[in-house]
Amino acid sequence: MTLTNWWQQAVGYQIYPKSFYDSNNDGIGDLNGIRQKIPYLRKLGIDFVWLCPIYRSPGIDNGYDISDYRNIDPQYGTMEDFDNLIEAFHNYGIKVVMDMVLNHTSDQHNWFQQAKASASSPFHDYYIWKKGKNNGVPNNWKSIFGGSGWQYNSQTNEYYFHLYAAQQPDLNWENPKLRKEMHDVIKYWIQKGVDGFRLDAITHLKKLQTFEDVPDTDMATRNVPGIEVFLKDLKKLYDDCHIMTVGEVGAVPPEEAAKWVNPKNGFMDMLFQFDHVNFGDEHKFDFSTKSVSQIRKSLSHWQQAVEHEHGCLGLFVENHDLPRSISYFGNEEPDQREASAKAIALMYFLMKGIPFIYEGQELGMTNKHITSVSELNDVDSIRFYREELQKNINAQIALSKVAFKGRDNARTPVQWSNQQFGGFSVTEPWIEPNENYKEINVKDELTHHNSVFTFYQTMITIRKHNPTLQSGAFALEKKTADNVIAYRRVSNQETWLIVINLSNQPADYRIPSDLQKLTYEIMLSNDRIDINNNNFELDRWGATLIKFKNKE
Ligand code: GLC
Ligand code: CA
Repeated sequence: MTLTNWWQQAVGYQIYPKSFYDSNNDGIGDLNGIRQKIPYLRKLGIDFVWLCPIYRSPGIDNGYDISDYRNIDPQYGTMEDFDNLIEAFHNYGIKVVMDMVLNHTSDQHNWFQQAKASASSPFHDYYIWKKGKNNGVPNNWKSIFGGSGWQYNSQTNEYYFHLYAAQQPDLNWENPKLRKEMHDVIKYWIQKGVDGFRLDAITHLKKLQTFEDVPDTDMATRNVPGIEVFLKDLKKLYDDCHIMTVGEVGAVPPEEAAKWVNPKNGFMDMLFQFDHVNFGDEHKFDFSTKSVSQIRKSLSHWQQAVEHEHGCLGLFVENHDLPRSISYFGNEEPDQREASAKAIALMYFLMKGIPFIYEGQELGMTNKHITSVSELNDVDSIRFYREELQKNINAQIALSKVAFKGRDNARTPVQWSNQQFGGFSVTEPWIEPNENYKEINVKDELTHHNSVFTFYQTMITIRKHNPTLQSGAFALEKKTADNVIAYRRVSNQETWLIVINLSNQPADYRIPSDLQKLTYEIMLSNDRIDINNNNFELDRWGATLIKFKNKE
């Protein structure tokens, strides 16, 4: 297969602007801060960045509540700063992907202000309004952030629907005028020169139009039949403008992957699925982690779902909504942290798809381990904590749940050095830094040649120079120890074997018989690998990448 679009060979990097780098010392990351760090990103070797929302916003959900889609939030800088940033990225050959929130706005958006003031406003129908029932909410639909999804508005004596926080009213995509407005917003940013969009909460655009009670709110708000009409319209717009798109497509089963991302008539170029970081089959704040076999199964299941050019996956283990991957999949103990960071990296990065790195992941950053409620910042964590207390759950237990899975973990400032506040700012940051910046930071990572950073850098270079790792077929190795994940990437010329021990116990591995006679080279390892008689041992969290030359 020949790869024709720029993103098909690319490696992405997600930036959470508020936590990336503060250039003007007000404790908040900003656009000029990002610009100053472009050489660092270039050094890592990434090809594009995804910027979490930087539009004007009251910041209830850190920018995912947008009050003005055509302006930059003053805390991040000005439109001129943005223009300079995008130009600077392009000068370095790095593309820019913006986060686009189409499902909801902020309640401070001018449309909503007018919509709630009067039912006869032309903007009223931009949102979803219903009369109450039996002195209560219109139906049993819930918010993903807890509680009913309906909020009463006394001015019109109606309720409006919000899938997320009450300050994030959902847009009514049934209204063609609203759809046109959102298309215009997209065009506005395309004209500014952006190269792509990450489509926030995109499975939710369509709501069940009967507005009846449902056993599970997902049935009325996620992947509802008819959504394809809105998505196809949007796809046409991106295609006309040659724009790359990656959708946040949670809870769509792998069997439906092709419908969403098949290159001929899918709704977007690639999707993020969330099965390996679950939250589907368990409550999002529960303590449980996945077993190695569950991780192996969900990752490989998705790989198989997009086989035979059925579409492309965005590959990731972290983002701004998830705990740090070392804390979740790996081992934070000082003597295991680096090895487990590298094992996790090899586990997902060389699968078929477009790998994304979340800021700080390339340093091996870990969860914050908050010990006091005052450290909570995230709207969803605070909401959850309060609800637990109302249910008479022990405060310590409630706190330890949000400490483990809460979204603040990924949002602590990037650790640039061992200076105060991790070198992120000279002023106290908006969110307390993780104290381990003394041991984990960019400055050190760049000087140690065995660092997590160097491992990512090497992995990126290897992927970039070897087309088999970009477009070769994926195959799971089925015969492995329980604590091992092994897979191949295959082309006519070569076979790459990736073997990862995802545990605190050593593991034995035997080279599969069909590869045993081939010449091989160990391309990358986080461990000393001695292959003896086709067997080798991986230390705990050991991981290796071996290239075999296929027979002529
Ligand atoms: C997505 C974002 C998350 C945000 C939500 C509502 O899931 O990743 O951060 O809270 O959408 O916009
Ligand atoms: Ca700042």
